[in-house]
Amino acid sequence: MENNFVYPPPQHFKENALVKDDTLYRRAAADRLNFWAEMAEGLDWFKKWDKVLDESDAPYYRWFVGGKLNVSYNCLDRHVNSFRRNKAAVIFEAEDGSNVTLTYYQLFREVNRFAAVMQQMGVQKGDRVVIYMPMVPEAVMAMLACTRIGAIHSVVFSGFSTEALYKRINDLGAKLLVTVDGATRRGKFIPLKENAQQAIEACGCIEKILVVRRLGNIVQMQPGRDYWYHELVGQVPLYCSPAEMDAEDPLFLLYSSGTTGTPKGILHTTAGYLVGVYTTYRYVFDYHEEDIFWSTSDIGWITGQSYIVYGPLANGATIVIFEGTPDYPQRDRFWEIIEKYGVTVFYTAPTAISTFMQWGTAWVKKHDLSSLRLLGSVGEPIKPDTWLWFYEHIGQKRCPIVDTWWQTETGMIMISPLPGITALKPGSATLPFPGVEVQIVDDQGRPLPDNEAGHMVITSPWPAMLRTLYNDPERYEKAYWKQFPGCFYSGDGARRDEDGYIWILGRLDDVINVSGHRLSTAEIEGALVRHTGVAEAAVIGRAHEIKNQAVAAFVTLKEGVLGTEELREELKNLVVKEIGAIARPDDIYFTAELPKTRSGKIMRRLLRDIAEGRALGDTSTLLDAEVIANIKKSYEGEG
Ligand code: WTA
Repeated sequence: MENNFVYPPPQHFKENALVKDDTLYRRAAADRLNFWAEMAEGLDWFKKWDKVLDESDAPYYRWFVGGKLNVSYNCLDRHVNSFRRNKAAVIFEAEDGSNVTLTYYQLFREVNRFAAVMQQMGVQKGDRVVIYMPMVPEAVMAMLACTRIGAIHSVVFSGFSTEALYKRINDLGAKLLVTVDGATRRGKFIPLKENAQQAIEACGCIEKILVVRRLGNIVQMQPGRDYWYHELVGQVPLYCSPAEMDAEDPLFLLYSSGTTGTPKGILHTTAGYLVGVYTTYRYVFDYHEEDIFWSTSDIGWITGQSYIVYGPLANGATIVIFEGTPDYPQRDRFWEIIEKYGVTVFYTAPTAISTFMQWGTAWVKKHDLSSLRLLGSVGEPIKPDTWLWFYEHIGQKRCPIVDTWWQTETGMIMISPLPGITALKPGSATLPFPGVEVQIVDDQGRPLPDNEAGHMVITSPWPAMLRTLYNDPERYEKAYWKQFPGCFYSGDGARRDEDGYIWILGRLDDVINVSGHRLSTAEIEGALVRHTGVAEAAVIGRAHEIKNQAVAAFVTLKEGVLGTEELREELKNLVVKEIGAIARPDDIYFTAELPKTRSGKIMRRLLRDIAEGRALGDTSTLLDAEVIANIKKSYEGEG
């Protein structure tokens, strides 16, 4: 599978790179905490920290203890007070091709007023604000406005269903929801305000909805609860002073899938998170003042939070925000945008790249991509042939590729090349970032020799680490710190080769990764069994050429219920309604029984073998061998 070629940084890249030698690695290895303290000097502090790391209450680590700062101040005010005042902060490309550029000064003004509006609506420090918005500049403004006044934001991906939104709002006990009247996706209208409203009415905690006018469609506004942003913004002061936040004050929550049916509210705090994303953005993406940086993620995911908003803006970078999809109106939309704005650094997901490969190079060739100098990949393991295609056809053999491994939990990139010095091996995320310590261990936590696959753990705390799971510290300890005491358990399998390069093998738990989106098999099963005809369901991720994994569900029905084509559609739609379109199963198989161990645990491994057309693995712990033979037979019949 692997190709044995190694790609050293091109000479021209190396000459102009921010990092030209291994000084950062050496400094971090010599004194990790001092290294992070030096990095923290890159931010503006109202008061410096007393202590870099407090481990006394592990695994509740505290970073930059005693420090005071404000995130929006670091992303805006300090640039406005510098030569960056009139530099483009945000270049926004709407789905219809219209565009707006906001300078740092303009963004600063907008965020101040947004913050003042929220304040006027009664939002206070520590209050939770849910942001349910498409990829528009106002979404970024809403996030920054929260950080300005010390409110804790939680962005919910606008493609999530009303049900999924409801679950998250409810867990948060949020007070305010910010949304838009409506959005479009591939030209199709989506009534975002209306969707949000249904979720809110079911929850009861949200007091007010702030609606940004995006499309101008007619929406029903309930007096005293629903407010138009454009009506309030004229009545507030132009300046809203940034709140002095403690280093460990909560900054935001982001829900992510775990191994159970309930999403985890991952909590990030102020200083450590900002130091982490500021530093990694700078060195991984080789930040140059004149860069135009485009990350194709959505602000509803951690990639959007860390590398659309906070990392780039803390550095004073210019970011591209794109509202649409890569195939609308045509399959060259991404290349058109790169050409139009002269994008220099392009960060996307392997699934997207595989899709572009399928669409063919003719779409790419129509455009001038010579502005690109660096490419990045995130979200899933990238297959070597996908890597090579990206390198050759998008980077035109001129641009290094940074394959970045990290998680919602880690907050920042943890494993990645430094593009000016790291020789690349296609398919490997290469080396831990300076100051990050990783090990590959066996089931007992013993470090494994080179080239042996095992669990990947992080052996020491890092600044942007999650601090806890909202309302559920027990689950925080159990999910991440109990398995291998003293180490953070990533849930991913990996091996390290003889050069110390890390090869990620994918999740070892019941989390699946579809097109770079994390989904919990238990959550999808939960949705399926809500159907009155379903007795039991087992969901697995099966290998998929483009999407990395596809959702496959094995379903047993209640007595007398027939496994018809209509029911199959109904179940797929039910999952979309409960979770969102990203979780829609590709396959649903009706089966009389599910393969279980003697203790009643579903043997997903065997189901995966079946779904991927492999010979069955070890079946010795199976309670009833007949069951699996029957499933296999019917699967082959249907598949
Ligand atoms: C996977 C996304 C291989 C991994 C930033 C991880 C990757 C999960 C890579 C986190 C990569 C992310 N190579 N696998 N470069 N990056 N993953 O929380 O399984 O949405 O545990 O964060 O994505 O997904 P999450």
